[in-house]
Amino acid sequence: MKQLANKHILLCVTGGIAAYKAAEIIRLFKTSNAEIKVLMTQAAQEFITPLTMQALSGNLVHTDLLSTEAEAAMGHIELARWSDAILIAPCSANSIAKLAEGRGDDLMTTVCLAASCPIYIAPAMNQAMWADSRTQINFNKLKENKFISIGPDAGEQACGDEGFGRMSEPKEIVKIVSKKFSTGLVAGKKVLITAGPTREKIDPVRYISNRSSGKMGYSLAEAARDEGGIVTIISGPVELKTPEKVTRYDVESADEMMKKVNEIIDQFDIFIATAAVADYKPEEYQNQKIKKKEKESILHIDLIENKDILKSIAKNKKEIKVIGFAAETQDIVENAKKKLLEKELDLIIANDVSDKTIGFDSDENEVYLITKKTEKKIDKVSKKKLSRNIINFIAKNL
Ligand SMILES: Cc1cc2nc3c(=O)[nH]c(=O)nc-3n(C[C@H](O)[C@H](O)[C@H](O)COP(=O)(O)O)c2cc1C
Repeated sequence: MKQLANKHILLCVTGGIAAYKAAEIIRLFKTSNAEIKVLMTQAAQEFITPLTMQALSGNLVHTDLLSTEAEAAMGHIELARWSDAILIAPCSANSIAKLAEGRGDDLMTTVCLAASCPIYIAPAMNQAMWADSRTQINFNKLKENKFISIGPDAGEQACGDEGFGRMSEPKEIVKIVSKKFSTGLVAGKKVLITAGPTREKIDPVRYISNRSSGKMGYSLAEAARDEGGIVTIISGPVELKTPEKVTRYDVESADEMMKKVNEIIDQFDIFIATAAVADYKPEEYQNQKIKKKEKESILHIDLIENKDILKSIAKNKKEIKVIGFAAETQDIVENAKKKLLEKELDLIIANDVSDKTIGFDSDENEVYLITKKTEKKIDKVSKKKLSRNIINFIAKNL
């Protein structure tokens, strides 16, 4: 279920025999690349241990409302805000009653009161408890409110009875929750983006770098994430905040960037190289700060070529789509086409960096999208809008 990628799901487990099935629910969300946090009522912890849930979800399990530790950061409000969807599975008759009354006497009920996201509820109980008129009244109240019901199903029960009250199957539950999230253009695709400049050290206090701000790469990361992509940025030194739900690795030099790319590239479907990687680096790094010379007015620093990250990835690629940027000052399209063929890229995005109002360090850009078969100009727009166009183009053309 690709549309679950990056989504924040809070799974609330209450005290019932079906609590063990919550483990399978976690597994299904995890394989769909959702991020999952678990909240357990006190009774739930008698049926399955928080340790199991922690190990499966990869996150600390939330259990207490009145915990001084979590509440220092207003834990219940934070959890409610964090959630894109809340799922209560299994939900006991007792919890249904408390939620219907709008009570807030434990962490789960309080989080549900504070939440503005959809709340899914999968009841699980003995058929007589389910059929009880008070349970029915309470459950109907919840459905009239912001709760979305899943099941229960009919069938054989743990206590030996037959009838309605069985929790729906984990697969069915996860499928219903996933329907809330629309499928993005790159849903479930793993996208690696390099961004920003590199710094090539001359001595402990000096380096060679360039004017790249990283804005284009970061904005593309947001656009890919918004379209359901699982995004990682390898970033040179920039003054930008890491976009939410995006993994970021910081590097300085071209060599460090190359090393990190090579280390993780095999996990990705799409590689977008927006980083302005220095073509050259000082041949020798001086361990001590270079002193100003009294009699000489010229200082020579020999530069050697850096390895071409984009070219090396594109040449060795198998399934991955490789997209490069070309910052040109003349014959933009012609030079970009040459680069596309020479580096064996799937797409090159070319812009004119001689125009100071676009490209480097600017919030706007105007580019050509060039593949072996197509050529498309995108007139000057914000990097945000351009990023959406580029992700759209990648999804539809590659
Ligand atoms: C062995 C056992 C199994 C239980 N199974 C269920 C169940 O499947 N559904 C249910 O609603 N209550 C069940 N209960 C009762 C709840 O655990 C009890 O009402 C508890 O207070 C629920 O607390 P919670 O809603 O805060 O999790 C069971 C109790 C025991 C002792």
